[in-house]
Amino acid sequence: MVTKILMVCLGNICRSPLAEGLLQSKIDPTRFFVDSAGTGGYHVGEKPDERSIMVAAKYGLDISQQRCRKLTFNDLKEFDYIYAMDRDNYRNILSLAETASEVAKVHLLLDSIDAGSLEVPDPYYGGKDGFEHVYKLIDAACQKIAAQLQDND
Ligand code: 4NP
Repeated sequence: MVTKILMVCLGNICRSPLAEGLLQSKIDPTRFFVDSAGTGGYHVGEKPDERSIMVAAKYGLDISQQRCRKLTFNDLKEFDYIYAMDRDNYRNILSLAETASEVAKVHLLLDSIDAGSLEVPDPYYGGKDGFEHVYKLIDAACQKIAAQLQDND
């Protein structure tokens, strides 16, 4: 059976596309499916933010084919693990959960590493440095999550 993992932020154009691409690059695609979504619907159908595409490309990762979508009620049923980039996202995801098992699927991405903060900061209104920082945080967390997923499988 394929294990399904969903990465979630607010816009689904900056942080969660990086998380989708990074986790995907570290796991066996025949055993795991990775997707991303946003709790807000402002950018549905758009490509990731140019700054996320650029920082990913700098490290050899192509996320330019991703398209933004909004988180749905059904995602809580369909996915096995759902990772929120920050606490607001976490609360908004949980507001769609109907059962204890759905609640249990939802985690903060940075809970998996000792990053000093549990939140991936929103880089949207900042400069390029913010994207570099966010990339490194997400990369470290995805490295840990990939190892855990492959151990559990
Ligand atoms: P993201 O960043 O949640 O990391 O994709 C944002 C992108 C767009 C907006 C907010 C955050 N926005 O308000 O349009």
